[in-house]
Amino acid sequence: MKTVITYGTFDLFHIGHVRLLHRLRSLGDRLVVGCSTDDFNEAKGKKSVMPFEHRAEILGACRHVDKVFPEASWDQKVEDIRRERADIFAMGDDWAGRFDDLSAHCEVVYVPRTKDVSSTEIRQLVHALHQERTRELRQSVQHVLDLVERL
Ligand code: CTP
Repeated sequence: MKTVITYGTFDLFHIGHVRLLHRLRSLGDRLVVGCSTDDFNEAKGKKSVMPFEHRAEILGACRHVDKVFPEASWDQKVEDIRRERADIFAMGDDWAGRFDDLSAHCEVVYVPRTKDVSSTEIRQLVHALHQERTRELRQSVQHVLDLVERL
């Protein structure tokens, strides 16, 4: 039984997340995922749209994931690796080199990231769409006000 362990925020669950989890699960027989808590995200300067409970529940509903646990700090990884008896620690290659120290405890692997999609980009896109819609609504209201004024 080979266990793979990974970590992340997994906000606005997207195709990059699905492909990563599929790939990581295929490296072993069991995939366990540390999902960053809201407080830990705040400490990292990140603000997710979805609360921890939702992100963790969505992760747990993914068929590639066998177990989800909270990631509440940077320094819990060695303890998690031991508790879960993880053979492989794996992350997307945007983290390449950052966790090489863990190779004293298990194999460390970085896998290619899916191009052109990220939670940050989705958040920015939704924000831009919201701003555009607000601008359109303001213009419509101004148009009606102009018409009323002319009456
Ligand atoms: N990931 C990936 N391909 C993507 C986006 C993320 O393989 N296109 C991987 C990351 O490398 C990481 C895991 O998914 O191992 C969780 O990353 P997370 O930071 O939650 O996803 P992002 O979409 O990168 O979120 P953000 O933009 O907020 O950093």
